[in-house]
Amino acid sequence: MTLITFDENKQIFHLSNASISYLIGIEKEAYLSHLYFGKAIKTYHDGRKYPAINRSFSPNPDGIPLKTRDFSLDTILQEMPSYGHGDFRNPAVQIKQVNGSSITEFVYDSYEIIFGKPELDGLPATYVEDKKEAETLVITLVDKLLGLKLKLSYTIYANRDVIARNALLENNGVVPVVIEKLASLSVDLPAQDLELISLPGRHIKEREIERQPIQRGTRIIDSKRGTSSHQANPFIALVAPKTDELTGIAIGLTLVYSGNHEMLIEQDQFSQTRVMAGINPFGFEWELGSNACFQSPEALLVYSDQGINGMSQTFHDLLQTRLARGRYRQAERPILINNWEATYFDFDADKIKSIVDSAADLGIELFVLDDGWFGKRDEDISGLGDWIENTEKLKDGLQGIADYVHQKNMSFGLWFEPEMVNADSDLFREHPDYALQTPGRGMSTSRDQYVLDFSRQEVRAEITKQMRAILDTIDIDYIKWDMNRHLTEVHSSTAGAAHQGEIFHRYVLGLYEMLEELTTEYDHILWEGCSGGGGRFDAGFLHYMPQSWTSDNTDAIERLDIQYGTSLLYPISSMGAHVSSVPNHQTYRETGLEIRGDVAMSGIFGYELNLQDMSQTEKTVVLEQVAFYKIHRKLLQYGKFYRLLSPFESNQTAWIFVNDDQSQAIGFYFRKYAESAGPLRVIKFTGLAPDKTYQVNDDAIYGGDELMSIGLYIYPFLEGDYQSRKFVINEVK
Ligand code: DGJ
Repeated sequence: MTLITFDENKQIFHLSNASISYLIGIEKEAYLSHLYFGKAIKTYHDGRKYPAINRSFSPNPDGIPLKTRDFSLDTILQEMPSYGHGDFRNPAVQIKQVNGSSITEFVYDSYEIIFGKPELDGLPATYVEDKKEAETLVITLVDKLLGLKLKLSYTIYANRDVIARNALLENNGVVPVVIEKLASLSVDLPAQDLELISLPGRHIKEREIERQPIQRGTRIIDSKRGTSSHQANPFIALVAPKTDELTGIAIGLTLVYSGNHEMLIEQDQFSQTRVMAGINPFGFEWELGSNACFQSPEALLVYSDQGINGMSQTFHDLLQTRLARGRYRQAERPILINNWEATYFDFDADKIKSIVDSAADLGIELFVLDDGWFGKRDEDISGLGDWIENTEKLKDGLQGIADYVHQKNMSFGLWFEPEMVNADSDLFREHPDYALQTPGRGMSTSRDQYVLDFSRQEVRAEITKQMRAILDTIDIDYIKWDMNRHLTEVHSSTAGAAHQGEIFHRYVLGLYEMLEELTTEYDHILWEGCSGGGGRFDAGFLHYMPQSWTSDNTDAIERLDIQYGTSLLYPISSMGAHVSSVPNHQTYRETGLEIRGDVAMSGIFGYELNLQDMSQTEKTVVLEQVAFYKIHRKLLQYGKFYRLLSPFESNQTAWIFVNDDQSQAIGFYFRKYAESAGPLRVIKFTGLAPDKTYQVNDDAIYGGDELMSIGLYIYPFLEGDYQSRKFVINEVK
């Protein structure tokens, strides 16, 4: 199947599979224009190119004949706009030159079509397992004056509604230039009513869904925190005003990057919308020497004409199967118990063993020893940087705990926070310069810790060495990689003044190098990302670690919002979710064990509480939850996920997991607050086969059409606040 064609006569590139098309044109004076992204088009007729229009105050570039005023970069729809030749909108690329100018003029030079999808040097990206899965178009633009080549890559998969893009800048000139901005992707969309969906948040309240009309002017969603952050997930969607979960057009965009990002949306004077994504130009400057090149991160652009849920499912499948890697990518994940909320720093070997005992009795499969097992770490003001087991706390050491856990037929997991150091640590006393700091200025603390300068190879090597000493001697099956503060006073002691603007990005590159090394070498380990909960829940990190701790907020009711928002693009197989104790440690709310279980098993299921303190009745519920999850986890971790009712819109939340052949499904319904003499609520399912017959909860029989069109009453009535109900739906033949 040919996925990419170039029409020499029309000068048009057409990337297309059975469901989507992406069209790029070469315009007058060899400027590159965006023609279309959306539902598949068979043949693109020339007459649809951007009309020649004379607009006042929209300049005409050099070379356009006298009195021909109908071609301006200020009006046409572009692919990778630069600034300085009459386009007054936000540029995608800005290059500072020795003469002080930042003006560039990139024009079309050549193209190449590659089967498959090349890797990105030093950066995480989606991939193919077989070259037949995708084709990649590389368009080379040149700025002749500067001797710069800008290579724009576009990958289209045969069976996915996504375009993966990146940009590579090569300096073939004789003098260095400074990159001030290089977006991974820029697209200009024709005038239309659009709304913007984004996922802002904060610690313990990540990824809330915001939706608002796009109006004229620029809107930026970005992080300057050195990491993708709780505050602004690197994701946006542009949707038609009437788009809902299952119908209408949605274009989703995410950046495969874990550092400072910028998602920019600009509606221009003519109501056209420019969208771009890339490394945040704030705090960024990269000196590009002669013969050097700079690779942007990858950006993923998804198209759906089946609503927001259609967009989510495309992201889920792509991120789960062609971004995440390793042996756990599609393996059933274990049910875990983590000791953090059970003990915090206050534990010893006996306490840990008693948690392990109870967990084993209840059928839990993985024990994770969280923060506090190393260095001098009895509270969160010391010890980070010294990854040496604390045998005062753990009398037989880590191996003693690991052996104990393994004897119980469970796996053993361990927590690390490799990027951090406390002032009170041997590492900091010996190497204070290893922490990021700006000469002559004080060092801000956050959770009383500093950030190690991971842009430096020797700093990473020291931490890698310490981690290896543990990983090579103790039997470890799982690691949680945490990061509990953001970057301040960003300056590297060994980089020269001209390179300080590179440090934010070099930090991320250093981190990726270390993740690549460790996750490849220790590929028997199940790695879980974390950053104070879901502060680094991004596609970049998912490349190395197939799951991530979704939030430090374990309250079942708050988790409805957090998991619902997270599911806009991240697969369920990536979302860690635990049952914790009540009153909840973040909200002080009391909820029943049933709803806590139902919310947590809508993610990668686990527990994080003192199981040994539970009553026999509670233990029976846990036994049932564990047994239920083991039977259904393949469906719950890897089934198609449909959102049915949004916690952001009402008192009710619902979602359903459906297997590939639509023979099995599990629906969950949650109600936050009791309704006095309330309406008889109805849940309508999605994703079932209309002509199949199903049995619900081993009881009544319904057609798939009935379950989807008529639905089921939530009856008997739920009683009280914070209630949930499960619907196990099986095909009957
Ligand atoms: C933040 C994490 O999100 C928690 O789960 C826990 O690991 C703490 N850090 C430990 O310091």
